[in-house]
Amino acid sequence: MTSLNFRKINIESYKPGRSILKKKKNVIKLSANESALGTSPKVLKILQSKNYKISKYPDSKAIDLRKLISSKFKCDFNKIICGSGSDEVIQMICQLFLKSGDEVIVPQYSFLMYRIYASIVGAKVVFSKEKKFRVSVTNIIKKVNKKTKIVFIANPNNPTGTYLEKKELINLRKKLNNKILLVVDDAYDEYMKDKNYSSGLNIFKNKKNVFVLRTFSKIYGLASLRVGWGYGDRKIINALNMIKPPFNVNKIAQLCAIESLKDSKFINKSVKHNLFWSKKIKNSLEQFNIFCNKVSANFLLLNFDKCKLTANNVEKKLLKKGLILRDTKTYGIKNCLRLTIGNNSENKLFLKNINRIFKNV
Ligand SMILES: Cc1ncc(COP(=O)(O)O)c(C=O)c1O
Repeated sequence: MTSLNFRKINIESYKPGRSILKKKKNVIKLSANESALGTSPKVLKILQSKNYKISKYPDSKAIDLRKLISSKFKCDFNKIICGSGSDEVIQMICQLFLKSGDEVIVPQYSFLMYRIYASIVGAKVVFSKEKKFRVSVTNIIKKVNKKTKIVFIANPNNPTGTYLEKKELINLRKKLNNKILLVVDDAYDEYMKDKNYSSGLNIFKNKKNVFVLRTFSKIYGLASLRVGWGYGDRKIINALNMIKPPFNVNKIAQLCAIESLKDSKFINKSVKHNLFWSKKIKNSLEQFNIFCNKVSANFLLLNFDKCKLTANNVEKKLLKKGLILRDTKTYGIKNCLRLTIGNNSENKLFLKNINRIFKNV
């Protein structure tokens, strides 16, 4: 028998959090940092009302969407590239910048796709140490060497929820060699209300050696449609356009992303909802000695180190009630769970079940 030869891929592939449970019809998924309030009614309306010509290919350059992004975010149309989720943009950046022998630096507890895509193209992933689940600029700088090509930062970071303040991000860019690309992932930017925080896009709009990532999967509620974008120097964008699959963002995704950007009312409502519930849940959990990061994005990292029960224990008890949280072991974080802020009834049910669990301890 002839056997085919292909590259040996020696990586740990991405394992999404659970979204179904055996024996349970109604589950509440608080494990993937999706939008608590779903999708803007304006998006739902156009989804139902339009007669889409799906037999035709979509606009490969996503011109209308990029035009609207450019005017909404006051940034250069020519420096925007859209992707099938920001995921695809991360993948393309890795393809463009990295080859075997290169190194990338990712914080110890960061979003998994940076290390996965970097490894796939043969780069070595170097982990910078964190302090109390917080990215350390000093440690990143320590890890830099001649082979370093990219530093990835999600700000705020998933799954820790911690973030670098504006001055820390600026300091990181200053201290890094100019030839290293800094990728700042703004996936959760819209939720941020701390005055010391500023998005990668706002800080680095005109920097040639910073690349910014954005997504429609979080506050815009379009996770299933797969649409995100990247922002960077024109030379980088031109090169990315050469490797980009021609019709990577489908027509419906482009239309819905446009519609979702127009609905500021829905975004403001989502931000308010998130702030209210993040604070409420954080405070409620403290009575059981479950502690979280400072409120930031649409999720909390629950730490059970001081609690009577372990994360594993609580996770199992919640699963029995149909509530799914994200186990953080795949991120290398022990005794923690990541909780996505849900809608009103989901959050109430979560708190009710937590109260029940601890009443019986
Ligand atoms: C920090 C961060 N970046 C990117 C993504 C991926 O987003 P997308 O759905 O646009 O691929 C996520 C998703 O969880 C994320 O947490």
